[in-house]
Amino acid sequence: MSEHIDSLQHETRRFAPSAEFAAASLASPALYDAGRDDPEAFWAEQSRNLLTWEKNFSNVLDWSDAPFAKWFDDGRLNVAYNCLDRHIEAGHGDRVAFHWEGEPGDTRTLTYSELTQEVKRAANMLTELGIRSGDRVAIYLPMIPEAVVSMLAVARIGAVHSVIFGGFSADSIRARVDDANAKLVITADGGYRKGRVSALKPTVDDALAKEGEHSVEHVLVVRRGENEIDWKDGRDLWWHEKMAEASSEHEAESFEAEHPLFILYTSGTTGKPKGILHTSGGYLTQAAFTHKYVFDLKPETDVYWCTADVGWITGHSYVVYGPLANGATQVLYEGTPDTPHPGRWWELVEKYGVSIFYTAPTAIRSFMKVGRQVPDKYDLSSIRLLGSVGEPINPEAWVWYREVIGGGTAPIVDTWWQTETGAIMVSALPGITETKPGSAQVPIPGISVDVLSDSGEHVGKGNGGLLVVTKPWPSMLRGIWGDPERFVDTYWDKFHRPDADNPRLYFAGDGARLDEDGDIWLLGRVDDVMNVSGHRLSTAEIESALVSHPIVAESAVVGASDETTGQAVVAFVILRSDQEDAQTPEEAASILRAHVGEQIGAIAKPRQVFVVSELPKTRSGKIMRRLLRDVAEGREVGDTTTLADTSVMQIISDRLTGKR
Ligand code: PRX
Repeated sequence: MSEHIDSLQHETRRFAPSAEFAAASLASPALYDAGRDDPEAFWAEQSRNLLTWEKNFSNVLDWSDAPFAKWFDDGRLNVAYNCLDRHIEAGHGDRVAFHWEGEPGDTRTLTYSELTQEVKRAANMLTELGIRSGDRVAIYLPMIPEAVVSMLAVARIGAVHSVIFGGFSADSIRARVDDANAKLVITADGGYRKGRVSALKPTVDDALAKEGEHSVEHVLVVRRGENEIDWKDGRDLWWHEKMAEASSEHEAESFEAEHPLFILYTSGTTGKPKGILHTSGGYLTQAAFTHKYVFDLKPETDVYWCTADVGWITGHSYVVYGPLANGATQVLYEGTPDTPHPGRWWELVEKYGVSIFYTAPTAIRSFMKVGRQVPDKYDLSSIRLLGSVGEPINPEAWVWYREVIGGGTAPIVDTWWQTETGAIMVSALPGITETKPGSAQVPIPGISVDVLSDSGEHVGKGNGGLLVVTKPWPSMLRGIWGDPERFVDTYWDKFHRPDADNPRLYFAGDGARLDEDGDIWLLGRVDDVMNVSGHRLSTAEIESALVSHPIVAESAVVGASDETTGQAVVAFVILRSDQEDAQTPEEAASILRAHVGEQIGAIAKPRQVFVVSELPKTRSGKIMRRLLRDVAEGREVGDTTTLADTSVMQIISDRLTGKR
């Protein structure tokens, strides 16, 4: 991390928008003025322009019960109608919504009419299965069209989806199903990953077979992998059979603007993931607004591809809700970027003529490693705009992305936001902003952010501090499912100023620096949350998985910088004394990596597990992760004077370098 920050401090390259791009871009400086003068009026106007309300709203923001916000709360709309039916009514039914490509090379094209038909059928199917407005439906699917259809069908009937990323384990599924009391799970037999079928339904079976009662009445199974699966009569149902029985006539009913739309679990600083709750009208407004202006979307001509999985917030806001509300044509790809060959993504860009491409720095860095000869084999000239999300992008990757993927001309938008913010908050606007490699730069119109010191003072240009959002925004999280106290404590307590006009500022958990122009440079998390390949993981969650294994007495996990994945999970464990000699440290490491994979999912497996005899602790017993991070990153260990036992770090270093 510190190397990264050094390189940011010295970055002076600037890229002005080309006159040609600027002349045709949708964004205008007037948006900033309007957003600054009266943010509430600005968002009300955007919402009315971008969405179709069944009943118009007259209230814009109710912040009287801060931090519990209500936006547009006397309005009514149907989110799925906004993403589907209205485009057909406007004469765009034949426009392609998705060019879907399976990993083995099978394809499906879905126009807006076809997608709408599917969603209507699925909505009827869900109703037949007893799903009602407000019920929770868990979705555990590969990147196939049914994932999008399921989400929209759930939204259409006013139920609430909780999409669980396909890489999560049975334990993680069960924890999420239980927390939300999901009535239905939608899954597939399996999906394609890295050239083979990766099973999903068996993991759902394991999740539901775990001890204790669960809330699930049915498991709907999409046939995709054609792998063998067990079947529980009465509980398990085939998607295609139920869909065939369902009618494709379905009138979308409207719901209140604050009707819950989805829950998405994300890691926090404790062992238990947080169910981030988003609602309908405000969320869709900001998802649509940002998708239109940050990506300069011209729905008649653009082909847009966001590579994120629908299991993450980026897939929710920039594969499903934002682009579909705007009537975009998209590419949706099931598999991994390098299967069956390292040029697969670029082959798809060429094949579909992708013009707007949105991905994560981790992916860019791994392509850089392989070398430009791979993308150079393809015609990428259709690309006119590039986006980055999920973690800070280092200037070298940024410049490579622009040169090699963007033909040296495509503007890059580095978009900062979070599961909690629901939509993009900080980003350049293409055609307007002179971009700086490595900086997310400026809040989008209508959004106010600041960088504050620990005590809440504005740090001023040239200084670093904590990123905060100073005014409520339409797509803000409305709470943590079932835990209002944690919602207040985590985000709204750090900068609570009871006497101020606006008593609550949103604490994002990210460090940031303001440069001399006042532009924002993100510096990574300031709490015990790691960012591995743009995916959030908590140290506490992995530590609790490690200590749940019988050979482990104690553990500490840190995020160490990693050339490709941004950060990597590094674990330090103390084995139980009767276990010390039962296996070699290498055997213990491999047992524990597998165990974390089973407990949380493959993405959480530590890159390294170090077996140690002590952990560095302060006198009050707090583990000093900073020192472990020094060790994990191969640096000289920093100041150890606050340790209860100052020799501990020496013992750990000696052990790891084989001196003991
Ligand atoms: O640390 C920031 C980082 O990702 C975190 C949010 O993670 P998640 O909720 O999983 O959402 C990821 C996709 C929006 C943030 O707290 N982050 C996200 N985008 C950027 C970023 N860090 C730097 N630059 C970004 N563009």
